[in-house]
Amino acid sequence: MASVQPLSIYPNVATATGPRDQFGRTMNYLRISLTDRCNFRCLYCMPPTGMQFQPKDEMLTDDELVRLVGIFAREGVTKLRLTGGEPTIRPHLTELIREFKSFPGINEIAMTTNALLLSRKAQEYKDAGLDRVNVSIDTLDPARFRFMTRGGRLDLVWEGIEQADAVGLGPIKLNSVVVKDHNQADVLQMARLTLDRPWQVRFLEIMPMEGVGMIYEEGLVTSAETRADLEAEFGPLEQLPSPDADPAKLWRIPGARGTIGFISPMSEPFCETCNRIRLTADGNLRLCLLHGDEVNLRDLLRAGGSDDEIGALIREGVWRKPWGHAAWEEHIRTIRGMSQIGG
Ligand code: 5AD
Ligand code: SF4
Repeated sequence: MASVQPLSIYPNVATATGPRDQFGRTMNYLRISLTDRCNFRCLYCMPPTGMQFQPKDEMLTDDELVRLVGIFAREGVTKLRLTGGEPTIRPHLTELIREFKSFPGINEIAMTTNALLLSRKAQEYKDAGLDRVNVSIDTLDPARFRFMTRGGRLDLVWEGIEQADAVGLGPIKLNSVVVKDHNQADVLQMARLTLDRPWQVRFLEIMPMEGVGMIYEEGLVTSAETRADLEAEFGPLEQLPSPDADPAKLWRIPGARGTIGFISPMSEPFCETCNRIRLTADGNLRLCLLHGDEVNLRDLLRAGGSDDEIGALIREGVWRKPWGHAAWEEHIRTIRGMSQIGG
């Protein structure tokens, strides 16, 4: 586990807005899970037996969501990321994007999507105020793609990515979770995309989320291994500076237009620069991806809490945001799986 360091080392303290935690980290980045449902069933995200989805009446309504985002904006959040499950299956997504973007202070909205439905909707989302997308895509091999997503169609996803690029939802970032015996060899083809496209292809270490512990135990490929595999093919990669608070460490194949990112939650935790908090689809403020600690905002909202009261609850929650990943090297019993938290 990363050790707790004195306040002065944190890069985001001096400049960023947003509620602050007891270690001096400032939270200006809110990730919102719009639904726990998904049109894929990726093997590292959902157990083969399926998920227990949340009851509809426990999910935030559109009005509740918009109100909460307004309160977060007032508290200093400036950047949103829409996630899921799969955010594009949430009804009224375009209207939600437009409402979120209308709050003063919200200056960037990004979305993490599997892109299955993106080819038809990318322009509409862009016009409503969406700035960028990250697309989860683990392989460019259609059969392996179908296997890893348990039925997903790569051709439609690829159309979605190209359309997102065409309408200006870039710079496009692609996320691949590298899993031994599945897509480990496909990282070469993924990385090759950066040669002539200004995209960022990012390789993620698999995390032991609820329900997928077996895949983690058998499948973890560290970023160091992936980089070695890439260097065996392309020669030494050039290291690039990473923007503050970006968990991806950036590299480039010499001469390539795009970049390669490594996200290494298991081998190199990046907790000290964490500037993010999460809102689950059922209205809980989740303080850390890998700790079960949550603050129920929905109950106060539904009990008639004022903006000030909800804002105060957010600030109190953020103050006690945990440091470091829980139960290091063990299965992380997080109660919620990735599709319920939103990555
Ligand atoms: N480990 C690492 N990343 C995961 N994702 C889903 N489950 C896991 C896991 N167990 C990723 C998806 C997507 C993002 C939301 O989280 O691939 O890019
Ligand atoms: Fe759906 Fe994303 Fe989970 Fe895959 S990783 S099942 S696309 S939420």
